[in-house]
Amino acid sequence: MTHARQHRIQVVAHRGASEDAPEHTLAAYKKAIEDGADALECDVRLTADGHLVCVHDRRVNRTSNGRGAVSALELADLAALDFGSWKSRDAWRGRDEEPDWEFRPEDLQDTSVLTLERLLALVADAGRRVELAIETKHPTRWAGQVEERLLVLLKRFGLDAPATPAESPVRIMSFSARSLHRVRAAAPTLPTVSLMQFVSPRLRDGRLPAGVRIAGPSIRIVRNHPAYVERLKQAGHQVHVWTVNEPEDVDLCVDLGIDAIITNRPRAVLALLGR
Ligand code: G3P
Ligand code: CA
Repeated sequence: MTHARQHRIQVVAHRGASEDAPEHTLAAYKKAIEDGADALECDVRLTADGHLVCVHDRRVNRTSNGRGAVSALELADLAALDFGSWKSRDAWRGRDEEPDWEFRPEDLQDTSVLTLERLLALVADAGRRVELAIETKHPTRWAGQVEERLLVLLKRFGLDAPATPAESPVRIMSFSARSLHRVRAAAPTLPTVSLMQFVSPRLRDGRLPAGVRIAGPSIRIVRNHPAYVERLKQAGHQVHVWTVNEPEDVDLCVDLGIDAIITNRPRAVLALLGR
């Protein structure tokens, strides 16, 4: 079923078009922009020498040919790794199972570590408005340094102080209320998204932590507690849902009037939305 006439839902590419190219690589983000995604999602972590890089896990083991924690490695160490080869057919040779993906050779290029700075440059050169949803990962460990570096970088691109939150092409997401609080204290007009894996008993009425405009529930919360989504909307919040890959979940998001769908398959979701 397609939904040509519903309100315009923003389609956000989760870690890039991560079903079509290795997650968090330049290739995955280029593909998402080509596919027509409205926005890109990325996770950021701080390296040992203070660079923000787009890596989801604490360690690089799953998504690169290296080992170790991002926080213990310098940018030069990460730059020597390949963040695409784990998705190549060669990497699976000799294993019993078969990979459930088949990438085009061009989607396995541009697979060195992606800095947030490089991603911001890609978005600046996109030739159309492409928004960015940046998630701070485990920021408590760094006592404010992740947010500090993030805001310095956004300032360099003129993105740290939008006139109003609604106009901002960038939003900051986190599971950590403290991280979002730090961002709002330093950059009050940057919108923040409170990510949630479960509904906090204190906030069941649809309120969010003070100053947060956008709720970021998992698709599981949305499936199991549609009334909660209604309460969030009644409280005046936008609702951005992750990670929505199945057609029936897209239908549910449309029916509930969700504002943004965060997906590994932006092309497929756009098609379901009739775009
Ligand atoms: O967009 C929010 C979502 O990315 C949070 O979960 O684990 O994929 O970072 P995770
Ligand atoms: Ca994320």
